[in-house]
Amino acid sequence: MDKKNQSNGMERRFFLRTGALVAASALLLPLSGTKVFGALSSTLGEKSIPAVKLNNSMQMPMLGFGTNTLNGDIAERCVADAISVGYRLIDTAHIYGNEEAVGVGIKKSGINREELFVTSKLWVDYAGYESTKKAYQTTLNKLGLEYLDLYIIHRPRGDVKGSWKAMEELYEAGKIRAIGVSNFDPDQLAELIKYAKIKPVINQIETHVFFQEHNSYKDLKRISVQMEAWSPFAAGRNAIFSNPTLAAIGKKHNKSIAQVCLRWHFQRGVVAIPRSSQKEHMIENLVIFDFELDNSDMQTLATLDLNKTQFPEWG
Ligand SMILES: NC(=O)c1ccc[n+]([C@@H]2O[C@H](COP(=O)([O-])OP(=O)(O)OC[C@H]3O[C@@H](n4cnc5c(N)ncnc54)[C@H](OP(=O)(O)O)[C@@H]3O)[C@@H](O)[C@H]2O)c1
Repeated sequence: MDKKNQSNGMERRFFLRTGALVAASALLLPLSGTKVFGALSSTLGEKSIPAVKLNNSMQMPMLGFGTNTLNGDIAERCVADAISVGYRLIDTAHIYGNEEAVGVGIKKSGINREELFVTSKLWVDYAGYESTKKAYQTTLNKLGLEYLDLYIIHRPRGDVKGSWKAMEELYEAGKIRAIGVSNFDPDQLAELIKYAKIKPVINQIETHVFFQEHNSYKDLKRISVQMEAWSPFAAGRNAIFSNPTLAAIGKKHNKSIAQVCLRWHFQRGVVAIPRSSQKEHMIENLVIFDFELDNSDMQTLATLDLNKTQFPEWG
């Protein structure tokens, strides 16, 4: 069976098993349409969040909601708020300690599961074949979900090969819709791809205007693995929200610094997952599809690159 049919077969089995009444193709439609997000439409008029096609043919929103450091009641409220204003991609991880709260937020939102794209991550303590399978089930139980749209290896540590085999099996069994990695450099990714039966769809890495990651950027494009930006605002570090260059470009387009940053990610073709605890910021961060950074803006933004992490403590 070729990969396309295999993938369709997998998705069909998957939906029969979960009892959903929609075909896989119908599921993908909401992400590629232009006026499909009810709440978002009311926020953005005719606009909505564009989707990117991953290398397994699945579609993923180009802009999502990050949940690191959001916990308990705050995480529940923020996730429900984010969904209510139009986010459909929600990013969590075992190590954030908030999967249960994120799951409650999703339920509170009242959204159909099929409209969401939920990502979680395998923490390094669970690297290895058996422990990955157990960790995945624990993540599902905590989130109160029957499947994830994307499960990724959080960091390239320990028995990555064993973890990847387990994730491939979960994917082939229709229990995860896509599998990927995070924080892999080009060599680490090349090593994984050598033994992988299934190529990762994504590499989620630290990237923002101060750390533009040109090598990974070019490499991921070359090998058709989607780049996803964690900390698209550098989590506020290096005074990003008062940077005069970003402010000047924002002024030119009547946009905020946050919007300039997110538009820059979008124009580079990078999926971004900004976090916010404030509904006004969540909404502001969605309004980036009604303007365009021109060549001179992009060239100016390129000069902000410091070519180094803003999170040396995580190295
Ligand atoms: N794979 C990995 O290893 C990894 C590592 C780190 C993060 N991540 C993921 O990436 C997500 C995003 O990264 P992050 O959480 O580190 O930080 P971030 O999204 O770069 O920045 C979050 C900060 O920006 C502020 N902010 C958001 N919108 C704003 C706006 N419109 N105006 C002004 N300030 C604004 C937030 O404050 P307010 O709350 O006040 O809005 C918060 O302080 C995480 O939540 C997580 O899901 C993954």
